[in-house]
Amino acid sequence: MTPACAADYRALARRRVPRVLFDYLDGGAYAEATLARNLADLQAIALRQRVLKDVSSLSTGVELFGQAMSMPLALAPIGMAGMYARRGEVQAMRAAKAAGVPMCLSTVSVCDLGEVTRDGGAPPWFQLYMIRDRGYMAELLARAGELGAPVLVFTVDLPVPGARYRDVRNGLFGAGAMTEISRAVDGLSHPDWLLDVWFRGGPHSFGNIAAAIPEARGILEFWPWVGRNFDPSLSWKDLDWVRAHWKGPIVLKGVLDAEDARMAADAGLEGLVVSNHGGRQLDGVLSGAAALPAIAAAVGERMTVLMDGGVRSGLDVLKALALGADGVLIGRAWAYALAARGEAGVAHVLQIIRQELLTAMALTGCTDVRQAGRELLAG
Ligand code: FNR
Repeated sequence: MTPACAADYRALARRRVPRVLFDYLDGGAYAEATLARNLADLQAIALRQRVLKDVSSLSTGVELFGQAMSMPLALAPIGMAGMYARRGEVQAMRAAKAAGVPMCLSTVSVCDLGEVTRDGGAPPWFQLYMIRDRGYMAELLARAGELGAPVLVFTVDLPVPGARYRDVRNGLFGAGAMTEISRAVDGLSHPDWLLDVWFRGGPHSFGNIAAAIPEARGILEFWPWVGRNFDPSLSWKDLDWVRAHWKGPIVLKGVLDAEDARMAADAGLEGLVVSNHGGRQLDGVLSGAAALPAIAAAVGERMTVLMDGGVRSGLDVLKALALGADGVLIGRAWAYALAARGEAGVAHVLQIIRQELLTAMALTGCTDVRQAGRELLAG
């Protein structure tokens, strides 16, 4: 199949990677109501079709956090992406760089910051999960700074993990003989992946934090440690600590409430991501698209407002901008493409999204993406 859109890459990914990994990527928390809402709410937004507006010249370029971008979009941090393709984060970084958009590397990526910077061709944005060992966190932030990571994305919507039923049922983090056997069968029935990632794609560890957990041998052995070491005591006053260890822009990820957004702006942060973690945390909360307008109204003048959750196309990108975002993150859209076709897949999906964005701009009469606003919405 020649993939025409992100949904096609989802179908290809489902075939190529073991089920346990596909479900980890595809799934959400609890009944997955918020996951579904992320998609449905964006879909329900109606754009306003306009005609005869001379759309012969369209501009999608923006500058966010002092960085020129070919379109207002960045690759969201996806933990364990290196299990979906060989040295997956490096492949994604290469594709992002070639497309002129940033990639944000997860704290819990397989490839570490150094490898992605070296082999990916540029330093990524860095996403921080705060773990209890502040000495180690300070070293990690210093390393990201030395490598030239331009933006720190501080994720704060995971003080505790949401329950993901698919992962429990698939025994993702389980132990025991039966789990091992079913994992082996799952792997063996996906031979492309087995050869590319399992045999040739190692080492499989959480590169950025591997030094903190020398006893872990495989990626699954990291999870219990990560779970035990996430710091649920985080509060607003910890932002001072982060600021003291990071010189560049700081973006708070996981904000859904205008009151929290105001506090982030008052704390002097440069940006935030309106996000429910792709529907993987508290099921039943608002979608990113539904939460966005109130947050943009509250802090849009004071900080850069990004949004994520359910963005699968360039049409969705334009809708998010119309609702008040300065840009979006895409999560699953790039990870499906990586799982299906590696770097070429990510490059292709970015090309598709940019083309969709151009088409949506032309048909709404928006010639410069920086001017996209509510006037693009019908009703
Ligand atoms: C994520 N997300 C995430 N966020 C983060 O800050 N750090 C992380 O390590 C991860 N890991 C992760 C793994 C997987 C498999 C998924 C699907 C998501 C959340 C991610 O950055 C983003 O907020 C959502 O993916 C956005 O929703 P869409 O675009 O996937 O619908």
